[in-house]
Amino acid sequence: TDAHTAGPFIAAIDQGTTSSRCIVFDRDGRIVSVDQKEHEQILPRPGWVEHDAGEIWANVQDVVTGALDKAGITRAALRAIGITNQRETTLLWDRNTGEPVHNALVWQDTRTDALCKELGRNVGQDRFRRETGLPLASYFSGPKIRWLLDNVEGLRERAEAGDILFGTMDSWLVWNLTGGPSGGVHVTDVTNASRTLLMNLHTMEWDADILASMEIPAAVLPEIRSSSEVYGIAGGILYGVPVAAAIGDQQAALFGQTCFAEGEAKSTYGTGTFLLMNTGHQPVNSHSGLLTTVGYRIGGQAPVYALEGSIAVTGSLVQWMRDQMGLISTAAEIETLAGSVEGNGGCYFVPAFSGLFAPYWRSDARGMIAGLTRYVTKAHIARAVLEATAWQTREIVDAMHKDSGVALTALKVDGGMTSNNLLMQAISDVLDAPVVRPMLSETTCLGAAYAAGLAVGFWPDTDTLRANWRRAAEWTPRMDTAEREREYRLWLKAVERTTGWID
Ligand code: G3P
Repeated sequence: TDAHTAGPFIAAIDQGTTSSRCIVFDRDGRIVSVDQKEHEQILPRPGWVEHDAGEIWANVQDVVTGALDKAGITRAALRAIGITNQRETTLLWDRNTGEPVHNALVWQDTRTDALCKELGRNVGQDRFRRETGLPLASYFSGPKIRWLLDNVEGLRERAEAGDILFGTMDSWLVWNLTGGPSGGVHVTDVTNASRTLLMNLHTMEWDADILASMEIPAAVLPEIRSSSEVYGIAGGILYGVPVAAAIGDQQAALFGQTCFAEGEAKSTYGTGTFLLMNTGHQPVNSHSGLLTTVGYRIGGQAPVYALEGSIAVTGSLVQWMRDQMGLISTAAEIETLAGSVEGNGGCYFVPAFSGLFAPYWRSDARGMIAGLTRYVTKAHIARAVLEATAWQTREIVDAMHKDSGVALTALKVDGGMTSNNLLMQAISDVLDAPVVRPMLSETTCLGAAYAAGLAVGFWPDTDTLRANWRRAAEWTPRMDTAEREREYRLWLKAVERTTGWID
C-alpha cells in the first residue's frame, strides 16, 4: 500500500440495477481496489420492480468506505469522484427531510404500460420521438414520475408546492453526497436526462410541452448539467472531494471503451444488454426501433450523441434460472450446463419479462420458451438462455446497420457476462463478426472515472485515455451461413409468438 499513499487517485461509484460498487483507479486507468454490495429486488406484483433508495444510499457509503480501506488510502488521496448509474430508475423524495416518498420504480418495471398507451392514443408511440429520441414505453422515467404523482396520496400537492424532488440514481447520490437536506445540489447530467422522455435532445432542456402533456410540475426536476464537471464538494465520508462526473452506466461504458469517434460502438452485457454507437455531434433519428440518446458531454463542449439498442433481459435471465428456477446454483454454472450439450435441442427462450425493448418496443409481450419436446433437458434450456442474448444482439446490430448504413467490423464488449466464453463465441457466430474484449472489463466505472478525471485535470484529454485501451480477448465466427440463417428464422418466429400476450 506504500505506492498507493503516493496518490492521487480517482474513485467511481457504479450504482447498478443489482448492486452498488466503488472502484479506485490510478493515473494509468488501472484498478487499485473494488468493493461491491447487492441490494434487494422488490417484486410486489408481476411486472413491478422496486428498489429501496435508503438501502442504496447506505450501500453506496459502505462500498466507498470499503474501497478506500482496501486501497489503504483515505479520502484525501482522491482527486475527484465520478458517479455512474442504472438509468431511468425513478425516485421522488422530500427536499426538507431527504426521505423518499416511495420505493424507486426500476427501469424494468412495466406498471406504466396503460399510461404510455393512453399518452400515445391517436398519435401512436412515437408522439415524443422527434423531441426526445425515444418511443413512449414503460422503460423511461417520465411516465414513472406521473404514476407516483397519481398514486401516492397527497404527493401532487406537495410536488406543486416545491417540496418534492425527482431524480434518477445519479441525482439522488449527488444530492446526498453534497449535503442532502442541508444543502445538497439537485442536478442530473445530459445522459440521464435523455432517458426521461422529458428532455428535448436539441436544446438539452426540459421540454415544457411534454411536461404539460404528462402533467409533471417543473418544480420537481433537477438542473441538467454536462457529464463531466464539478457539481459540488462532498461532505460526510468523502468530505472535501469534488463530485465531478455523472453519466448513465451505458454511456459510461461507451466512454470507458474510448468510443470517442463517430461510428465506434460497444455492447455491455449486464442485467440487460445495451449496444451504443457514437454518432458524433448530430442526433440520428432511428427508423428501425433504436433510441436516439446523448452519449456524453464534457463540460462546455458540444454534446456527443449515440444510437442505442436496449435489451431488457440478458444477465437477469441467468439470475432467474438460479434464483427463481433453481436450475443452477451460481451464475457461472450456466456455461458448464449449456456446454454439456451440442445445441439447443430445438428450444428458444424469448425473455420478454419486461415486454420487448429494441427494436420492437412491445410492452404487451411476455416471456416464452418455444419448441419444447420431450427431448429437451435443462441443459438445452441453459443453452437457449445464452443463445437468447446472442440473438437479441443480432437484432440490434441489424437495426444499427439499417439506421446508420455502417456495417459492423468488430464488436467491443464488456460487462459481467463477457467472462462466459460460450456466450461470446455464440455472439461472434450469430453476428458473423469478431467480438473483442478489453483488458479492463470494468469499463462502466472506468468511464465515470475518466469523466471525473477530465473535469479536474487529472487526465488532460481523451487522446490520453485512448492509449489505455488494450485488447485482452477475441472471438471469431465459426458457424456456417446456412445454419445461422435457419436458427435466426426460428428465433424470430419465437419472438413473434410473445407479442400481444397482455391486452
Ligand atoms: O437502462 C438501464 C441500464 O442503465 C441498466 O444497466 O447494468 O444496471 O443493468 P445495468
